[in-house]
Amino acid sequence: MNVLVLGSGGREHAIAWKIAQSKHLNKLYVAPGNPGTAYLAENIDIKLDDFARLAEFCIQSKIDYLLVGPEVPLVDGIADYFLQNQSTKHIFVIGPNKESAQLEGSKDFAKDFMLRHKIPTARYKSFSKSSITRAYDFLDTLTPPYVLKADGLAAGKGVLIMNDLDETKSALSEMLNGRFGVAGEIVVIEEFLDGIELSFFVLTDGNDYVILPEAKDYKRIGEGDTGLNTGGMGAVSPVSFVDKDLLQKIEQKIVIPTMAGLKKDDMKYVGFIFIGLMIVENEPYVIEYNVRLGDPETEVILPRLKTDLLEIFEAIKTNQLNTIKIEFEDKKAATVVLVSKGYPEAYNNAKNIEIDTIENSIVFHAGTKYIDEELVTNGGRVFVITSLAENIKLALDSSYKNIENINFEGKRYRKDIGFDLE
Ligand code: AMP
Ligand code: GLY
Repeated sequence: MNVLVLGSGGREHAIAWKIAQSKHLNKLYVAPGNPGTAYLAENIDIKLDDFARLAEFCIQSKIDYLLVGPEVPLVDGIADYFLQNQSTKHIFVIGPNKESAQLEGSKDFAKDFMLRHKIPTARYKSFSKSSITRAYDFLDTLTPPYVLKADGLAAGKGVLIMNDLDETKSALSEMLNGRFGVAGEIVVIEEFLDGIELSFFVLTDGNDYVILPEAKDYKRIGEGDTGLNTGGMGAVSPVSFVDKDLLQKIEQKIVIPTMAGLKKDDMKYVGFIFIGLMIVENEPYVIEYNVRLGDPETEVILPRLKTDLLEIFEAIKTNQLNTIKIEFEDKKAATVVLVSKGYPEAYNNAKNIEIDTIENSIVFHAGTKYIDEELVTNGGRVFVITSLAENIKLALDSSYKNIENINFEGKRYRKDIGFDLE
């Protein structure tokens, strides 16, 4: 089989790393990819929004599966584009169509879906510029902290959590007046959920589903979960507080109603569903749906997957997901992200990178590139270092040890990944 993976981060490197091990693989391509994926696959210089060139490439290279890493092409309708085009409709896209991708593309759509299908989530109301006075009145009825969410995609920056009512009202006014562009034309105001977050993943063919291992992402830049939100500074899988009882609750109260809702609404979802959960007093609530895998969660989940990923894709394509047995390593996985000084605010690129011998860890590239055969930094998140071991602590020891062997000016990382778990 020939496969094209779309994206260029650590998540896509991990996906390519897993697919490269498949006994069914003929040729693997990544567009645009990064220096890490270049070891495993052929990187193709086509932009993610250039559907026409991507389609042309897929036809020429006889691609069987197109796996879409990030959300933007899905929200922009890449799956529909391939399906509607006679010459590409045989290419199987792992990723939902435009309508289903609204689960991530519009918070208002997602909340409405959850309400309609009785999926536990924070209470909320949505407002636009014309209803701002009612939004202020609604805020007056709530107690702090206040949660404001720009409806559309805002690269992880569209959620504000604030304590002061007046400041919240002015932030709301800024949002409705263009602070996040069109993404903020509608704002969801919701109840604050005080609990512990969990990343949960389901893979579906639209009928059946498989549950992947859960993960915990460490989103804040600072140790002890302090400071600004980032794309993710580290992750672990499995998560120690997720026992059988909680897993069962998540499946019964969240996964099954979500799948039933998709069918009832005729949404024909194919691909990964990333359910961002808040666990409050041992009860799961959905904070958000994402229509893709998480980053850096993928870097701890896929290394634990024993089953051949292309066999799973084939089962999805042939509606046989219910017949396939998916197996995972008993080993635990942990990953630590190396970032550039200044991230998630302004940072410098093009710092030279030196890598010595790495033992017992996998180095995924997230933001690197070559300039004249020199590997240099090219992003806020630069590397993601994953290890597998008998327990999370040993896995982290291995990642932290190997981090000493990767150096660039301004290298930063959190030294406390997993600090809150046993
Ligand atoms: P999101 O961009 O939707 O992932 O939200 C960013 C972060 O805001 C989440 O990871 C949570 O930590 C936090 N968050 C979002 N919604 C809520 C909520 N209703 N209650 C508490 N925290 C929230
Ligand atoms: N790690 C969170 C995300 O991928 O959105």
